[in-house]
Amino acid sequence: MARRFDSVAVLTGAGISAESNVPTFRGKDGLWRQYRAEELATPGAFQRDPILVWEWYDWRRGLIASCEPNAAHRTLVDMETRCEDFVLITQNVDGLHQRAGSSRIVELHGNIWEMRCTAENATSENHDVPLPQIPPMCSCGAPLRPHVVWFGESLDPDRISAAYRAVERCQLMLVVGTSAVVQPAASLPAIAKDSGAYLIEVNLEKTPLSPWADEVILGPAAEELPRLWGRLKESFC
Ligand code: OAD
Repeated sequence: MARRFDSVAVLTGAGISAESNVPTFRGKDGLWRQYRAEELATPGAFQRDPILVWEWYDWRRGLIASCEPNAAHRTLVDMETRCEDFVLITQNVDGLHQRAGSSRIVELHGNIWEMRCTAENATSENHDVPLPQIPPMCSCGAPLRPHVVWFGESLDPDRISAAYRAVERCQLMLVVGTSAVVQPAASLPAIAKDSGAYLIEVNLEKTPLSPWADEVILGPAAEELPRLWGRLKESFC
């Protein structure tokens, strides 16, 4: 590849953690009991039935705790190490990028290992698996909620601004394992492309983003991303 990339942005979704055995949202394994993420990850669902919502999160936390980062997560650590202007934007809340060693991360949808007081909004880290009490309670007496973005809620303005800044200036954007249907994350690659970036998508299947991409690599991220890195290394930073 003749181009040189001094500035890189990456957008990841649930598919990058699929080979770590974290279920994706829209795949056949994305179901939990008879519910779908869209029916549980909402403020209304939490208001109606906080115990049910917390049981779902407790189940996911237990599952994620037993998972390890895979070769795709580790490849992004190598890229970050190699490139001064590198931003990893993730929709995932599983924390596997951090566990792999990535540090320049924008967690657009929050983190499943953080909780937020429903009265005071203070956030705290919590790694208890399983949770000793459902719903977990703040010391102020109010219930805690997962510090994640639910359907119908706005993203943290600082995080989405950081993501926009990264995609507007990047010369290369990689999009890995996202169905590219949830906004505003889904529009980030198009912004990068409009700003002149070279766009590469890695996914098991084509997505609404594929027509925008300069390259669409169909295959599992844990195989394809290390292979792609082997090819891109020389063009990096
Ligand atoms: P989805 O479950 O919608 O999509 C996962 C994508 O990963 C699909 O396009 C799959 O084809 C692809 N995929 C699956 N296994 C893969 C593999 N081994 N290698 C590469 N690709 C693979 O997940 P997201 O796009 O992340 O939001 O979903 C976006 C948001 O919707 C989530 O962050 C969450 C969800 O509801 C909130 O919770 C706010």
